[in-house]
Amino acid sequence: TDPSIATSNSGDPKSFAYSTARERWPKILSSAIDEIVSTISRNNGLSEEDVNAGKAIQAKLTALKTSMLGDAVLEPIPSDGRPDVEAYNDEFKTIKDRKWLAAPWLYTECYMYRLIHTYFTLSTSFWHSFDLFATSKRSSLVGSKKGAIELIKRFRGVLQAIAEKQSVDEETQKAIFEEMIQISLWGNATDLALLTSLSVEELNSRQGKAVRDSNKKNIVVDDTDQVWSLLSRLRLLGSPRDIHIVLDNAGFELLTDLVFASYLIESGYAKKVVLHGKRMPWFVSDVILDDLKYLIEGFANGTMYDDTGSTVREELQEAGKYWQGLIQSGILEFRAELFWTTQHPFGRLPIVEPGLFEDLADADLVVYKGDLNYRKLTYDGMWPHSTPFSEALGPLARKHDGQGVRSLVLRTAKADVCVGLKPGQDTNFEDGWTRHGKYAMVSYWDAKS
Ligand code: F6P
Ligand code: MG
Repeated sequence: TDPSIATSNSGDPKSFAYSTARERWPKILSSAIDEIVSTISRNNGLSEEDVNAGKAIQAKLTALKTSMLGDAVLEPIPSDGRPDVEAYNDEFKTIKDRKWLAAPWLYTECYMYRLIHTYFTLSTSFWHSFDLFATSKRSSLVGSKKGAIELIKRFRGVLQAIAEKQSVDEETQKAIFEEMIQISLWGNATDLALLTSLSVEELNSRQGKAVRDSNKKNIVVDDTDQVWSLLSRLRLLGSPRDIHIVLDNAGFELLTDLVFASYLIESGYAKKVVLHGKRMPWFVSDVILDDLKYLIEGFANGTMYDDTGSTVREELQEAGKYWQGLIQSGILEFRAELFWTTQHPFGRLPIVEPGLFEDLADADLVVYKGDLNYRKLTYDGMWPHSTPFSEALGPLARKHDGQGVRSLVLRTAKADVCVGLKPGQDTNFEDGWTRHGKYAMVSYWDAKS
């Protein structure tokens, strides 16, 4: 059962949910509507049936925006034949304030993306697997050229250092590990659901080594040392197993996660890395299979960035081909279980998805990227900030028949929930400090020992 903690809801004027529901969601819907309109006008080869179906989707999105702005009552999600809809509708019945501007934030936001997905799954085959966020995800990756090139150069250097491992002392190894964590952590600062209010320049200013270094002081919980001890211990035992990464956003963040995953493999910390993405377009920028393919193929083919000069292009191609090889050999695996696009907090995993839970419990380590995963891990609860991380994890923190999930969170904070601080640690922080991706958490809990 869920812990008995009140959760963030969009009716509370002090919450980030409040302005999210009133300002950010309608903006996201407006861009979605524009995307449908421009898709129809771009594809002059579309059949009349597909054009009409597109207009019907546009009308549904417009109606959704109107009902949201008017604080209408939520309706159950129409069935599109996929089992997850039932999970939403079962929980729906238990919600008291079933209105857009009052209901629990986590539920309503997941519900919104799942509902939008039915507009497509119930449409013609052209629209069936249409990703209404693909254009913005792709342009943000293209816009991250500077950060991406810098990162690939550094990545090559790290792979080289690993290859010459004998000459690298323990301290240097640890420094590289810290850097890899930081890269993946701050990769999360650039997501598009939040960036309705940030420009591409600001996006660029959040990437790169100089920014990471100056942001170190903003990591309010930092369990990096514990994770380092774990990995060192496991490597010493000599039989590394799987590490799972529950991904968050496509584009630059996905690139940082691929770098992190490769580092874990090449350093001998993981035999294999499993990446968990989403089955449907989700929270604007989350990774679906096509995003992974777009990145890796765009690098491998040398088509991602133009005017780079041949040396850089070759370096990028080499990285792309390297990842293609890892995937072909099964050392890197992409999965997209439906669970990740349900409304369920992760503490419900052992009950609602025991198979997936066992996979995670079986892994040496599970890394959760980003804000939404953090909200789901902690029930989006209004915990006092000094609540121990393990308490907020609920049942996931406890062992089940000797099994538990070793969990590492790499999150830049973009919501209200926050746990694991020292008492009084945030007394002098500015109002709303948990909301804008400026502060971060590296939180770890070992449910195995
Ligand atoms: O309301 C939008 C939101 O859920 C915020 O919590 C967060 O800013 C964002 O979406 C998702 O962030 P992330 O991509 O880090 O999960
Ligand atoms: Mg996201």
